[in-house]
Amino acid sequence: ETQKSQYRLKYHFMAPTGWINDPNGLVFYKGEYHIFYQHDPYSPEWGPMHWGHAKSRDLVNWDHLPIALAPSEEYDYGTVNDHGCFSGSAIVNNDHLYLFYTGHSIEKDPVQVQCVATSQDGVNFKKYEGNPIINDFPKDGTKDFRDPKVWKYEEFFYMIVGSKKEGIGKALLYQSKDLYEWKYVGVVAESDGTQGDMWECPDLFSLDNKDVLIISPMYGTKNEKPFYTIGNMSYKTKQFTQGLVNTLDYGSDFYAPQTFVDDKNRRIMIAWMDMWFSHRPSQKEGWAGAMTFPRELKVIDNKLYQVPVDEIETLRENLKDFQSFQYENEYMIDPQLSVSSEIHIVYDIAQSTSNEFGLFVRSSEDGHERTKIIIDIMKQEVLVDRNLSGTGEKSVSRAPVSFVNGRLELRILLDTTSIELFINGGEQVITKRIFPNLNSNLCKLFASAGKMKIEDLKVWSIKKVID
Ligand code: FRU
Repeated sequence: ETQKSQYRLKYHFMAPTGWINDPNGLVFYKGEYHIFYQHDPYSPEWGPMHWGHAKSRDLVNWDHLPIALAPSEEYDYGTVNDHGCFSGSAIVNNDHLYLFYTGHSIEKDPVQVQCVATSQDGVNFKKYEGNPIINDFPKDGTKDFRDPKVWKYEEFFYMIVGSKKEGIGKALLYQSKDLYEWKYVGVVAESDGTQGDMWECPDLFSLDNKDVLIISPMYGTKNEKPFYTIGNMSYKTKQFTQGLVNTLDYGSDFYAPQTFVDDKNRRIMIAWMDMWFSHRPSQKEGWAGAMTFPRELKVIDNKLYQVPVDEIETLRENLKDFQSFQYENEYMIDPQLSVSSEIHIVYDIAQSTSNEFGLFVRSSEDGHERTKIIIDIMKQEVLVDRNLSGTGEKSVSRAPVSFVNGRLELRILLDTTSIELFINGGEQVITKRIFPNLNSNLCKLFASAGKMKIEDLKVWSIKKVID
């Protein structure tokens, strides 16, 4: 591997070069998936925001397309760095593709306005001459007024925009008949005082007969882990009633998720597989940022479950199938785990005696470098520990876990510089970037003070499909 590609991932979406943050405008249009993303093509740092663009037929192989939106107009351009086409969403109407985004320029007042651009071929986009379509924030918001998410319900289009006022993060609702003229409706949901003082990238959708709100919250200048709440959206009162609030992903490198529905009626979510404060050693190579592997969402028993889309199966090869066995101390499952791989493991907790067990992945032979996945039975927690995962910040992420019918199921997606851990069918997820040596590729099971019974264990290599 060349220096240039040391940190490049093998099956997670990245820009060809430069900077990535949020996924934008996720949509299925004329038989193809489209992804747009916050992008600075000229630098591995955040800068004037463009919408990068790529498309796919299967959510795994992506073709890069020309930049869809670049700063160019009075409402999305500035002379200082802090400007551009900020995050937003897409919708298809009458065979046309509409992109809604926030025009941002720090020199303007107001700094953030909502805009639209359209396309008939899914490649070339034209900004609407009547932009901005929403040229000021409403009374319930402030100048932080961004990330429009648009959807259709019965005969109307709706848009929510993230904002804040007096220390309370808010989702502001608009309504339209034609996608160009928008009427302010009111605050559809807001923080109860503990859910952030600014709401970024709000997403509100129905799934499995429930309504789900996803928010990327900020507390002061700090971004926090996105949360979801399953509640009820009333189109009569135009209010979303929140249910319990849950962390969407317990990892340290997951932010600004966005969802969309495809032709198979799946609700699919992609997030930025980084955070504003993530460590980014790849900047040395001229790029930064990647997307999570696309996840399908389901609501089961009032919880949101996330699993990698089935298309991952087309990338699997070299299956090692261990079936059922018992071990104690340490057990080598793969001395040459591919740097991109998938692991499924089902523990029979009821027939095991160890209270602390798990896996070492991406481990060097001497074990000085390794990423630990630890299950702590007493604390009912799963941990992903990257204190020894190569360069990068040391950190441990924790998620609560339950042992249903005495079992625990883990599904792990590893790529060159990432780990996504799906616990019990995706009830909890932990996503982290890791930066181990490319030769650190051994995988071991461990169990302290006791025996572990494995009901099933499968390991695959995952093919490289991204450059
Ligand atoms: C979220 C965010 C959005 C904004 C964009 C700017 O990560 O801060 O609120 O539109 O990134 O790149």
